[in-house]
Amino acid sequence: MPHIKGFIFDLDGVIVDTAKYHFEAWQRIARSLGADFDHKDNEQLKGVSRVRSLELILNWHNIQVSKEDFIRLLDQKNKDYLALITDMDASEQLPDVSRVLAFLKGHHQKVAVGSASKNARPILEKIQLLNQFDAVVDGTNVTKAKPDPEVFLQAAEQIGVGADHCVVFEDAQAGIQAAKAAGMIAIGIGSADVLKEADHVFANFTEIDNAFLNQIINTK
Ligand code: BG6
Ligand code: MG
Repeated sequence: MPHIKGFIFDLDGVIVDTAKYHFEAWQRIARSLGADFDHKDNEQLKGVSRVRSLELILNWHNIQVSKEDFIRLLDQKNKDYLALITDMDASEQLPDVSRVLAFLKGHHQKVAVGSASKNARPILEKIQLLNQFDAVVDGTNVTKAKPDPEVFLQAAEQIGVGADHCVVFEDAQAGIQAAKAAGMIAIGIGSADVLKEADHVFANFTEIDNAFLNQIINTK
């Protein structure tokens, strides 16, 4: 019997580099409110839900808005974001994502997406990966945002693999915390300085070789 594990991929910053589009869209919103928004601010919004991101931006600048304006700003941000990703295609898959996916599927492993984004499905469709996953759990399915483990636990359930046999690929600190809270192996994609709580960290998928994947698959 082959060992079966569940491999759960975060989307933004792991499968596709959407941070630059989120940055542009949030910067427009911040500027419309007379506030600055730079790349350091954007870093703090990685893995953070849309609602929480707007709350943070408003808090940083001590800006108060009505409930109606809050909703209008959220809608505007998403409209701008969707306009920026209209032409997104398979060329925007991050390097070696498809190699790692093919290797795992070729070794009978289950693969899922676990993302905070409400745009996960349309994005996966644009980059031609939607039909490659056994399950997709995203911001439209969950009530509790990362670092709560809900998104990853739902993904594990959908692929029928126990949480203690799941492995998460994540680029955000909140996502690593969510994976650990779910009792899963957490593999950080990015900088080891930031993703301190991860079990392993790689700069990107080009650094993850087949020997490492085999080792993870065969870990009890
Ligand atoms: C996360 C991103 O994956 O999804 C965040 O890292 C983003 O930057 C969040 O705010 C929500 O995404 P969306 O597409 O629902 O606005
Ligand atoms: Mg991410």
